Amino acid sequence: MPDSFRFLREETALEILDQRLIPFQVSYLKCTSADQVASAIVSMAVRGAPAIGIAAAFGVALDALAGRDVERAIRILWATRPTAVNLFWALDRMRSIAGLPPDIRGDAMLKEALSIWEEDLRINKAIGANGSVLLPERAKVITHCNTGSLATGGYGTALGVIRAAVEAGKDVEVFVDETRPRFQGARLTAFELFSDGIKFTVICDSMAHWLMRTRRIDAVLVGADRVAMNGDVANKIGTYSLAVGAKHHGVPFYVAAPSSTFDLQCPSGEAIPIEERSPEELRTLGAETLFPEDYPVWNPSFDVTPNEMISAIITEKGVLHPPYGASIRSVLGFEVLK
Ligand code: MRU
Repeated sequence: MPDSFRFLREETALEILDQRLIPFQVSYLKCTSADQVASAIVSMAVRGAPAIGIAAAFGVALDALAGRDVERAIRILWATRPTAVNLFWALDRMRSIAGLPPDIRGDAMLKEALSIWEEDLRINKAIGANGSVLLPERAKVITHCNTGSLATGGYGTALGVIRAAVEAGKDVEVFVDETRPRFQGARLTAFELFSDGIKFTVICDSMAHWLMRTRRIDAVLVGADRVAMNGDVANKIGTYSLAVGAKHHGVPFYVAAPSSTFDLQCPSGEAIPIEERSPEELRTLGAETLFPEDYPVWNPSFDVTPNEMISAIITEKGVLHPPYGASIRSVLGFEVLK
């Protein structure tokens, strides 16, 4: 698998793998400023909750190293995408050292960005180990969006669980939701599984419920962009629908996420801001226009799955079971809002 990021010390530049070109081209965008990193996030050259947090941290570090205004860098990056809380979590970490003297601030910020990246990789390995035991020896799994190496600092969250299960010798077959409208499943998850030699089949999102009815499916396994303190989970649009199907068919529905995806300020899913994206994402398919501009479109990029539909949430610190308020407190040590 190509790395999602490369930091070039000699050039003080962050190279971001351009995910818009995967699976057909592996090419990196060279960023030397927070503005360039912000535009890579907005254009979705880099996407996935932990990955945009890591990219943003480097964006701030690049401006700090160049002696530019760090508060401005944080402001610009803060406004790039609203739903994944890892972005704000990473920027808050960078802000906590913004008051250091200018002569040491740049290096300290680069060190912090590198730590956020390295920690994420370590955390994903722990999520994988904690989650792989939930899968049977022969497992058929449905995934949604991309939760792999591309979406994180490496290895992945939900895809990390699959990788860990395969590494443990389990026979895993993955059904990959294509994930309309941007096809993160068909383009990115399939690319990762293909690269790793893991068995997979791409399906349309609308086929998942029929697949659960007609074949034995052992689990639905997804990532998260934000987890509220009651265990409600915001993730890529289509996740809620998969949870409804899983409940109807008696299939376990697992979420895998690092503790940085939990929002201590957010009591329930109702408080999670849902990004709405351009109608063009539905109206066009590559160069092709599917329907006229005056047809109205609704394009929420995420949805919220209520906690009662989630069988377990897999974190680096352990597996959370319902009731989530209590397990978030006991396993993660977070104080749940009253
Ligand atoms: O719009 P995207 O592609 O950034 O959405 C990504 C997702 O919804 C992922 O499932 C989520 O960020 C978890 S990635 C480990």
